[in-house]
Amino acid sequence: MVRLISVLSIIFLFSCSPDNEEYVKVDKPLNFQIPANFPATVYDLEANPPTEIGFELGKKLFYDGKLSSNGVISCGFCHEQKTAFTHHGHQFSHGIEGREGTRNTPSIQNAAFMKAFTWDGATNHLDLFPIIPITNEVEMGETMTNVLEKIKEDKEYQQLFTSAFEDGEVNFENFFKALSQFMVMMVSSNSKYDKYVRNEINGEFSEEEKQGLLVFQEKCASCHSTDLFTDDSFRNNGLPPNLKLDDFGRALVTGAESDKYKFKVPSLRNVALTEPYMHDGRFGSLEAVLDFYSDGISDLPTLDKELKKENSLGLALSTTDKNVLIAFLNTLTDEEYINDERFSEY
Ligand code: HEC
Ligand code: HEC
Repeated sequence: MVRLISVLSIIFLFSCSPDNEEYVKVDKPLNFQIPANFPATVYDLEANPPTEIGFELGKKLFYDGKLSSNGVISCGFCHEQKTAFTHHGHQFSHGIEGREGTRNTPSIQNAAFMKAFTWDGATNHLDLFPIIPITNEVEMGETMTNVLEKIKEDKEYQQLFTSAFEDGEVNFENFFKALSQFMVMMVSSNSKYDKYVRNEINGEFSEEEKQGLLVFQEKCASCHSTDLFTDDSFRNNGLPPNLKLDDFGRALVTGAESDKYKFKVPSLRNVALTEPYMHDGRFGSLEAVLDFYSDGISDLPTLDKELKKENSLGLALSTTDKNVLIAFLNTLTDEEYINDERFSEY
């Protein structure tokens, strides 16, 4: 018995000590730059500064099916780069065994600048976010402990953790930090619109696009504000509640009646690529979204004031307004971002 224990403890010691001690730390910091037209970051970059290997590790995790119970559903399965990291063609997310969720997959971009995550702001820290999809039974359906066990067994992961972090440990903290490093670097800031506001080449707007920007500033920018195109608040934009889903939005987090049917104001960056729209993916086109804002607003107690001014419901939008708005929204597509190989699946 004594012998058995000592053998076991040797195996234990052996498997715990980084058997790649000769592996030299060659990691280098990555240069995170705030685009000139962006506000300050929310994410604490000093607490978790992105590095070359930390980023590579985060990327490997993002595209690894091991994070799910069936070994197939990675983060990238639902967040596809070519559609700004949304799940193309799916109204609702579907993960493990084709089980369907109840919300539309939002894009991942500019996460370092965001105060809250998911449609109802279930968490406000990017590092804690991955617990949600990993443990969600309709998304990745796995336990965090199992995920870490699988990662620990993998030689390549062991080396990456050793190189990326001071303590070299394969633990939850470093797992989350690596995923955040990858997502923090995912900055979309080179659309035609960005080049226009920064006076860069290829940033000329047509008359129609300029008109669209003006209409946007007048009618939409109170909520879709700053160059992130969101004020990070939760609002009821007048969608008639989907009675089948009965999704109360922000009220699910705060429990407050006054938050019923409020959802996070989404960024509109790359919006031309991310249909279907809204938290439940109910609209298949931008035209349908604009028709809703002009004629489809539902007057519930929590409806946002911006959408009921002088007692008239919705936003007055002429056919011309709608056409120029769509031309403008198309300028928010960032081809560099959706083709950037740093973020691509291998
Ligand atoms: C089964 C599909 C699916 C998988 C797998 C998935 N996501 Fe998501 N993701 C979603 C959906 C749906 C939401 C919105 C959830 C909500 O509002 O409740 C979301 C939201 C997000 C957000 C918040 C975006 C925002 O603007 O608020 C981030 C960040 C994100 N996911 C990253 C990840 C990461 C990292 C992983 C892997 C650990 C992952 N996702 C796995 C479907 C998925
Ligand atoms: C009162 C604040 C407010 C105003 C004004 C507003 N929006 Fe929104 N917008 C929201 C909220 C909140 C959502 C998310 C609603 C949901 O899914 O439940 C949203 C969602 C959207 C979406 C869907 C994005 C996606 O990824 O699914 C588009 C597109 C959009 N708005 C465009 C516009 C345009 C264009 C205007 C001006 C004509 C406008 N919005 C005015 C608050 C607003």
